[in-house]
Formats: sequence, structure tokens, C-alpha cells
Amino acid sequence: MKQTVVITSELPPIATGILSRRYEVVAHPNAKGRTEEELITIIAEADGVITLLTDPVTRKVLEANPNLRAVSNYAVGVDNIDLAAARELGITVTNTPGVLTEATADLTMALLLASARRVVEGDRMLRRGEFHGWEPLMMLGSSLQGKRLGIVGLGRIGTAVARRARGFGLEVAYTSRKSRPALEQELDASRLDLDELLATSDFISIHAPLTSDTRHLIGAEAFSKMKPGAILINTARGPIVDESALADALIAGRIRGAALDVFENEPAVEPRLLALDNVVLLPHLGSATEETRSEMARIAAENLTAVLEGQPPPFPVTEI
Ligand code: DGY
Repeated sequence: MKQTVVITSELPPIATGILSRRYEVVAHPNAKGRTEEELITIIAEADGVITLLTDPVTRKVLEANPNLRAVSNYAVGVDNIDLAAARELGITVTNTPGVLTEATADLTMALLLASARRVVEGDRMLRRGEFHGWEPLMMLGSSLQGKRLGIVGLGRIGTAVARRARGFGLEVAYTSRKSRPALEQELDASRLDLDELLATSDFISIHAPLTSDTRHLIGAEAFSKMKPGAILINTARGPIVDESALADALIAGRIRGAALDVFENEPAVEPRLLALDNVVLLPHLGSATEETRSEMARIAAENLTAVLEGQPPPFPVTEI
């Protein structure tokens, strides 16, 4: 009898193409904000499942199906999955790193530029009919050349952002659990502790995974340590930033602006941020290119196939 794989939401077709050669595939239409109970129901018969970052793969979900062997997350982040429970239950967890690095780094630069040069604000102003001709002091932003970009987490995406930033004349500093001497040399980057990075960076971009250590890493205390006029960019995970503290810092004029692709309680956004002109907000688009999402689908399917065939998957998640 064929094994059953469940895909919790619509994906680029390559995933079903790969999986349907060997397995019974049950692909569900998109569901926003699926609950634990819904997830338990739809994966009740599954040997393996492709999940989204919005699926709460809790211990309760994992324990509910004793036949489940693999959870293939359609994301690089795995903070939606109880990894300890999966390990205990002998369920392999995989993710899709690498293929979304460049797309996410591109979007980070788009946000950095949009915020520094007031791109979205200018577009809104023009559409309101308020552009009456060039003016010397109209909508002045912040130059990039010679400024410091502080990268929180110099992993794959942080490194790709740093390489782009150098091309824009930014100096790079980073904070990371591990020292990266070869990268420091390549990027002419300095490794700083978080406090020094916050105090000296003109732009701060977050590229760390969400863990118990990084949840609210950027909160009221961090904002109070930032260089006045700094701009914060987050394309990693929303809960790393305390959104309410961010709104306080922006309203108090502690920092110059923020550009966010991810939110603490997605899809909700702190209402005070919605009202501010110096905040750029995107609906979690970091990896949203046709090429990248298709590659993520291919890798998610290949990860799942490998586990179900008793092979080591290309991208197992061991720890974060
Ligand atoms: C991820 O993969 O973790 C991103 O947030 C979505 O592409």
C-alpha cells in the first residue's frame, strides 16, 4: 500500500509532481491560521507532512498520529515546530535552507533602502496629490555611504545582506554566537557584542532564528541603547522584536524608522505602527519570488521522500 503524504496548503506544483510518483498525496487548499485541532485532523492518516511556518506543529499534534515519520517544513525557520517532541517521538524534521538566502537578502536591502530613502512615504505623498514640484528640503532621508549596518546573526542570510551592503558603501558590524574570521576579512566586518552593535549602528538588521534566547531580544532596553536616529529592519521572525516597544521608540523619536517584513503576532500588526509614516510594512515576502518558492517546494518534497524511503534527508533539522 502506498504511503500517504499530506501537504497542508497549496504549494508550487513541483512538490506534488515529485511526491505523487510514489505516494498518495493529499494537498489541502490554503488555510489561514490553522489551529492545532485542524492540523491533527488533516494529518491523521499521514506518514509524512509538508507544513507551513504558520502551522502549529506542537507536541499534541505530533503525538496525535503514531504513524507520522516526517515533518518537512516549507521554510528555513522551524520555530513553529516542537523540535524536542519530534526528537523524542522519532519524527524527522527538515527545512529548506539556502534557496531563499538571496531572495531574502534582496528584500532586506529593499526595506533598508525604502526606509532610509523614504520610498513608500514618498509614493503615498505623491498619490495623495501633495507633490507640487522639486524642493530642496523635501523628504530628506539618510545616506548609506559610510554608515554602519549592524547585523544581528551572521548566518547565510545575514552574510548575503552584508555582501550587498558593502556594495552600497556600508560598513558592516555583526553580532553572532560564533566568530567568523574568514567572513570578517572578506567583508571587512567587526564582531561586536549586542550592546556595542546597538549603540554604534545606523541600520540594524535582524537575521537570527527565533528561539527562547532571541524572543524579544530587541525590546525596550535594546531601543534605549540604540544610536539616536537608527533604522531597524526585520526580515527574520516577528517575535524577536517587541512590537509595542518598537512603537514606543518610534513615537518618542528614539529611532528614525523601521522596516518590517515579519510581525510578532502575524498577520496582526501593532496598530500604532500602522499609523506611522516612518515604518515600512510588508506581508512576510522575504522568500516570495517564483524561483525561490518553487525551489523550496522541490526541496520540501525531496526531504520528505528521503525520510519516507529511509534515506538521510538533504536538510534535516537537528538543532537551532
Ligand atoms: C522562512 O523560510 O523561514 C521564511 O520566513 C519564509 O520563507
